[in-house]
Amino acid sequence: MSTRSSLLRIADLASDDVGRILGTADRFASVMDRDIKKVPTLRGRTVVNLFLEPSTRTSTSFELAAKRLSADVVSIKGQGTSMDKGETLKDTILTLEAYEPDVFVIRHPQVGACAVAGRYTDAAVVNAGDGTGEHPTQALLDVFTVQQEVGPLDGMHVAIVGDVLHSRVARSGIQAFRMMGARVTVVAPPTLVPRHLAEALGVEVSADIRDIADADIVYVLRMQLERMGAGGFVPSLEEYARMYQVNHTRLRPGQRVMHAGPVNRGVEISGAVVDDPDSLIEAQAANGLVVRMAVLYDVLTEAASEPGADEGGIALEAA
Ligand code: CP
Repeated sequence: MSTRSSLLRIADLASDDVGRILGTADRFASVMDRDIKKVPTLRGRTVVNLFLEPSTRTSTSFELAAKRLSADVVSIKGQGTSMDKGETLKDTILTLEAYEPDVFVIRHPQVGACAVAGRYTDAAVVNAGDGTGEHPTQALLDVFTVQQEVGPLDGMHVAIVGDVLHSRVARSGIQAFRMMGARVTVVAPPTLVPRHLAEALGVEVSADIRDIADADIVYVLRMQLERMGAGGFVPSLEEYARMYQVNHTRLRPGQRVMHAGPVNRGVEISGAVVDDPDSLIEAQAANGLVVRMAVLYDVLTEAASEPGADEGGIALEAA
């Protein structure tokens, strides 16, 4: 029987699962404070990172996460694969199956591509971003960051500002924040809000940036110009910035600002807010490592529970 489970979407998880994964991330965070940051937890396991869309944060953190857990890692990025020559995702997965991977971490421009990949492998599949679909590990690291830096999400108000229509970060984040008990308000021009969002995901929707005023967390979304085609979603970026940019004139003292990155400084967020020591953007990037270590561990839990494992079944002695 397979001991592997996949993580394709936030709906794959219950709040207990989120708590377990983030508890594991917390334990890995204490390992990262040591001189030797490598543990043997996934020794003998193979992780294939298949990134067919641009990425800096997710790809590097998954690669380092696998290495810190002592797994063997194969990383394939963007151009230069046989998919450029017409090979399908199915045939790419079947080819990489030859190495008997335990986990595929996949970023792909098509919604649902990670689920499709899962049909052709017994390995766990982790969705590292599928087009405008979902980005569940981003949502997990965002919840972890709020819990670590601000406090429990239960009862908090999170305002998500910007291009929700094209945002997998928003789609996963809204579900995760709501699951952990937060109230979520989406603030965006109506052209950048999916139809029926309020009913589907239980959020409030506003077109007025002043509605971020009572939020504890202001989560800014990147304007995803590469997904906007011929445009027409906003009159111009200057007009968007004038109406919706998150900057210090619109924030009140004490509000914490998040952004998954990469940021467009001066468009959806001012450079001064990005650089503000109170912003959580650097913490989000840093937490990506331990949360992705925890996700890799979680999808291979059975395999990681080996003799010699530390308290809680995780091998935490130095590798
Ligand atoms: N937030 C995020 O997914 O960033 P990358 O595209 O750099 O991985």
